[in-house]
Amino acid sequence: MSAHPVEPRGSTPSSDDPVRLEPVTVPLVRASKGRGVPLVMTTAYDAPTARIADAGGVELILVGDSVGMVVLGRDDTLRVTVDEMIHHTAAVTSQSPRALVVGDMPFLSYHVSVEETIRNAGRFITEGGASAVKIEGGRKRSRMIRALLDAEIPVMGHIGLTPQSVNAMGGFRVQGKARAQAEELLADAAALAEMGVFAMVLEGIPAELAKVITDDVDVPTIGIGAGPDCDGQVLVIHDLLGLTIGRAPKFVRKYADLNEQAVAAVSRYAADVRERQFPSAAESYTMPPDVAVALGAKPARA
Ligand code: KIV
Repeated sequence: MSAHPVEPRGSTPSSDDPVRLEPVTVPLVRASKGRGVPLVMTTAYDAPTARIADAGGVELILVGDSVGMVVLGRDDTLRVTVDEMIHHTAAVTSQSPRALVVGDMPFLSYHVSVEETIRNAGRFITEGGASAVKIEGGRKRSRMIRALLDAEIPVMGHIGLTPQSVNAMGGFRVQGKARAQAEELLADAAALAEMGVFAMVLEGIPAELAKVITDDVDVPTIGIGAGPDCDGQVLVIHDLLGLTIGRAPKFVRKYADLNEQAVAAVSRYAADVRERQFPSAAESYTMPPDVAVALGAKPARA
């Protein structure tokens, strides 16, 4: 069994220096199905989160439209625009030397016409520097997905609790608990695999259904709130770092509490400023003494 699900060719992976590994590609992700070591994906939205994710050794970075909620403070993802997504995608690709960057196509950017879909998706590649795009929905989106694949734009699928369907679903609700809905999702997953997506996100579905889908399709499944049996896992980086605004969903595991650490750091800084403990002489610039004397400047506080 390989140490890395998408082990780079011709170099020895070193867990303490992941950025030296070869870049992850779409074919490597696609070929990782069945290799036994789960794929790791997080979201990132800017240069610092991209650097953290890439240095942390993830194979895939998703520039998610969750940016609307976790970064821009909105209640849902629906108002995120293509321009906003491109802006964030370009920041992420500037700092992700190894991970494969996937741009999330926002609501209504792939629904109107094939021409508009290709133009919007193309911007993620040409302006944002992404290697692929993600699209929510299964068979309903087949015309657009096939057109993107025809245009050589790799597509990641996304089914289950698709956040852009929040109004149609009546809230962010787990999908596929009832037999009929589970069968619809199985059919969607099979259709996405047949269309040629290189991987698919399974979000907010029962673990049992995620396992059936994962066993059924020959492309990697990447779960979020979909149990342990997917071919990979994805978490929103703000959730795993403890930077989420409000309550995080049940499936989130918090690996750090950066919000608490950041608030403590800012309050120490505020106290130091108020007590004139910051900045110190070592943190200040000086001028030559004769120039200071000529200006009549008094020595700075010690
Ligand atoms: O936008 C996003 O972050 C996502 C992931 C949670 C899969 O779609």
